[in-house]
Amino acid sequence: MASSTKTKSDKPKGKGKDSQGRGRTSRAKDKPGKEGKKRDRRMNAKNADRYELYQRAVNSPETDIDFLEKAYAHYRDSKPMRFREDFCGTASMCGEWLSRDPERRAEGVDLDPEPIEWGKRHNFTKVKDGIERVEFRLDDVRSPSTHKPDITAAQNFSYWCFKTRKELLDYCKSVRENLADDGIFVMDLYGGPEATVEQEEPRSLGGGIEYVWDQREYVPGTGQFLTAIHFRFRDGSEMTNAFEYDWRFWHLGEIRDVLYDAGFKDVTTWFEGTDPDDEDEGDGVFEIDERGENCEAWLGYLVSAK
Ligand SMILES: C[S@@+](CC[C@H](N)C(=O)[O-])C[C@H]1O[C@@H](n2cnc3c(N)ncnc32)[C@H](O)[C@@H]1O
Repeated sequence: MASSTKTKSDKPKGKGKDSQGRGRTSRAKDKPGKEGKKRDRRMNAKNADRYELYQRAVNSPETDIDFLEKAYAHYRDSKPMRFREDFCGTASMCGEWLSRDPERRAEGVDLDPEPIEWGKRHNFTKVKDGIERVEFRLDDVRSPSTHKPDITAAQNFSYWCFKTRKELLDYCKSVRENLADDGIFVMDLYGGPEATVEQEEPRSLGGGIEYVWDQREYVPGTGQFLTAIHFRFRDGSEMTNAFEYDWRFWHLGEIRDVLYDAGFKDVTTWFEGTDPDDEDEGDGVFEIDERGENCEAWLGYLVSAK
């Protein structure tokens, strides 16, 4: 899930992703028209739709699916047809996946029916037969699929809900077992010294609306990482704790070890390149890079082949 930002030293002002791996590039075409701008100006904490704002601030389905296709092409010559979005929420990636080929199928898995119902109403209406080609399962991500996917993705660090190594290992094992023989597993991740600093990072969504990523608490002894999203509006009102997360902060090396222990044959690390016009920013292009750059905050992907 990605677009530009290396989120090096100045994440909130970064021109692309913020700390939740929130891309912007693919949303550029969603810029509101005159009516949209008016609506934005009237929006406040009482009348706003938190899922709409979440998607606007956080999701970049086009960029995300571009990356999945690129990662798959690194390993396989065939075209991936079946996609499973774990922790799918509103399943914006499923919608984009289906829009690219009428034969494609998608599966969204989440425990919470509310974002799924919202996603069904908003993310599939413009995709031909979209709702018939997606299967939603209200279930734990460790549950098996009806059809084995070519790609499984766990985005926006959602797998950080697993607090122990055993839980993360069980999840990675179940993903591996569930994949098609040629399948790959894609996880995004976030790191760097700034990643665990307790701070609020505001970013403008336009129209006087502000998205705030709140790294509320990091407990070094346990890795517990409490975060939240707030939205602030032109009229001064705030939708506080629109979303809250209770995670463990996982480090890249720990996750890679877990993936190998789960039986994956090859795990590659992908980091973002540097914007040629601003060395503090990323260029939105993720390439295999086993070292990475020691920025204050960075985004990356781990891609694992079965
Ligand atoms: C951070 S949100 C991510 C939503 C979506 N992936 C996105 O990027 O917009 C995390 C989601 O994971 C779901 N979730 C948490 N634990 C889960 C589990 N064990 N199995 C399935 N879904 C889970 C929550 O209900 C929530 O919708």
